[in-house]
Amino acid sequence: MSDLMEKKGRSSFGSKFGFIMAAVGSAVGLGNIWRFPYVAAKFGGGLFLLLYLVIVVVLGFTMLTLEFTIGRNRNANVLDAFAVGKKKRSYIGWLCILIPFLIVSYYNVIGGWILKYLTAFIGGGKMFEDGDYAGAFGGFVGDPVWSSVFTVIFLALCIIVLIFGVQKGIEKVSKFLMPALFVMLVFMAIVSLTRPNALEGLAYLFVPNFDSIAENGGFLQMLSAATGQAFYSLSVGMGIAVTYGSYLKKDQSIPQNAISVCGLDTMVAIFSGVAVLPAVFSLPGITLGDVQGAGLVFKVFPAIFADMGVFGSIVAVIFFLLVLFAAWTSAISLLEVLISALEEKTKLSRKGATLVVAGVILVTSVLVSVSQSGLLGVDLLDVFDSLTTYVMLPLTGLLMCFFLVKVIGMKNAKEELLLNCKSKKLGSVWEVAIKYVVPVLIAFILVMGILTWAKVI
Ligand code: PHE
Repeated sequence: MSDLMEKKGRSSFGSKFGFIMAAVGSAVGLGNIWRFPYVAAKFGGGLFLLLYLVIVVVLGFTMLTLEFTIGRNRNANVLDAFAVGKKKRSYIGWLCILIPFLIVSYYNVIGGWILKYLTAFIGGGKMFEDGDYAGAFGGFVGDPVWSSVFTVIFLALCIIVLIFGVQKGIEKVSKFLMPALFVMLVFMAIVSLTRPNALEGLAYLFVPNFDSIAENGGFLQMLSAATGQAFYSLSVGMGIAVTYGSYLKKDQSIPQNAISVCGLDTMVAIFSGVAVLPAVFSLPGITLGDVQGAGLVFKVFPAIFADMGVFGSIVAVIFFLLVLFAAWTSAISLLEVLISALEEKTKLSRKGATLVVAGVILVTSVLVSVSQSGLLGVDLLDVFDSLTTYVMLPLTGLLMCFFLVKVIGMKNAKEELLLNCKSKKLGSVWEVAIKYVVPVLIAFILVMGILTWAKVI
């Protein structure tokens, strides 16, 4: 442990494996399972895959290392991390509070739905007996009381982990949940490949398809989809990696850890494509539009499980457990940003800060949950989700690039980045990426995002 960390008495991750699992836990989430397969199939299959890999290396890796570097260099929560220099840029820190706050408020609600489905399938799946999956889902989501109860239980699951802190809570749990998720995902991929017409679904993912790109607005739309997906999937642009990076010991190589995180997150995305697309297209009457979002997980998959007979209910439990693990570790990372800031900015203990954050998020999550029943006249889940992903994430990402160049300075940043890293050449490539390539790419998705967002609201 570095002197600085010891002096300040801040928490840190205990091992390299633990750090990577926690960061992968944040990255691997619903974006991998219900967003990636759809976007890939929509924008050119194999061609999208290639472009996505390039974007992950150029933008994903750069942003992730940038955030880890800021975090470890500043060795502080997001509010303190950006409040430095002559012209304090505290607003970046506040954006890094606001974004996780908004996202976790709806992530908990979806987490609640996942828990409901998991318990329903464990209990024998009576909820789905009449085969009306859309009706069953609508009925549950539209019930403000029961959907809120499950939202609160999901939040409680996160709080139980967070109250134990970084090493004994987040790290310990991620070290178990992530490997378990990988095993279940491989199982799901194998099950999916044994479905009728599996090859047809697989072709959506791997075969290059120029027509689908042309039909969906051309290359610029494809580039925007790939860039946005990489941003969301790696959980960058909102201070999670700054927070986790601040718990990273100095004897660790930032680039090495970031390569593992990018690699594993992308692997999970591709495996999710294999687990989702063949399974989904094995059902008659499915169109690409059914392959995304809540509809995919809560309406289409239950129909697939029913089609599998007795075996189906076991597969269903494994599937919802997998989705639960993905959502759980992501929600934990979002809450950790808030907890670490509150703990260090006030005199609250870890436990106190965790409980205060839990109390506030409980209220906002229940509001989002109730908004699903139409009682509030506005769908808060949609508003929070579109505002954060289309506008706030790229905007904050861009501000972070400027912050690193202007305030921390390239020289200091490169020193931090390259600590215990063998490849010293990386520094100059990284500098070009942060100063020129990445800001241009982010500015591009920001403009596209604002246009999309204007359409959504
Ligand atoms: N990266 C997560 C995913 O792929 C989503 C997420 C975004 C999680 C922001 C936390 C914060 O689903």
